[in-house]
Amino acid sequence: MEVVIVKDAKAGGELIADGIAGLLRRKPDALLGVATGSTPLPIYDALTARVRDGSVDASRARIAQLDEYVGLPAGHPESYRSTVLRQVVEPLGLSADQFMGPDGSAEDVQAACEAYDKALAEAGGVDLQILGIGTDGHIGFNEPCSSLASRTRIKTLTEQTRVDNARFFDDIEQVPHHVITQGIGTILEARHLVLLATGEGKAEAVAQTVEGPVAALVPASALQLHPHATVVVDEAAASKL
Ligand code: GLP
Repeated sequence: MEVVIVKDAKAGGELIADGIAGLLRRKPDALLGVATGSTPLPIYDALTARVRDGSVDASRARIAQLDEYVGLPAGHPESYRSTVLRQVVEPLGLSADQFMGPDGSAEDVQAACEAYDKALAEAGGVDLQILGIGTDGHIGFNEPCSSLASRTRIKTLTEQTRVDNARFFDDIEQVPHHVITQGIGTILEARHLVLLATGEGKAEAVAQTVEGPVAALVPASALQLHPHATVVVDEAAASKL
């Protein structure tokens, strides 16, 4: 695992956007796995700026969602589908058919999970997966005690994650209890994992991820098992390393 400490979130975003630019030069139709949350926004902003100034051609890139809420009505502004369309797909000038994600409003959620794992494999697998980290060490929505071999499946959110994500909704009651997430085993199949963590609130989770044992209690620690994992942290998130 490679750990890179940068000054702040903006520098982290620029660094990771540079890596994505390099990937797109080598493989213009790369499949880019994207995370939601506040942390990756500087990456998407930096990448969008490069596309707009003509220094990066992302026109053939493909985008894959990491996770999704279950049960939000189609088109809900806080569904991760809507969020990724708004924050990544549209700013990069891509069309909706260059974007894939699990169907959180499917009647048969289990079948939707299996279909998504299959679709990712048929698309050739994720080339670079951007990850954030929850304050409890989760990646995607793989909460503590998730199997390190897990596949895309339905999960129940912990109260802490619902509290953390309540800021995106009018009140906590509106935060769904259930989600679909790529499993840890699914995530580990991406060719390159890039986790960005910023702010002091992530320092403990980062320390356990990087320096602790590989353990289901800290899902992000599974990155230690991956042959090409990069953890980019700002000085505050690195403060307990
Ligand atoms: C959610 C997402 C994760 C994300 C996490 C942290 O739980 N499912 O993919 O990493 O939030 O979000 P933030 O970056 O806003 O702290």
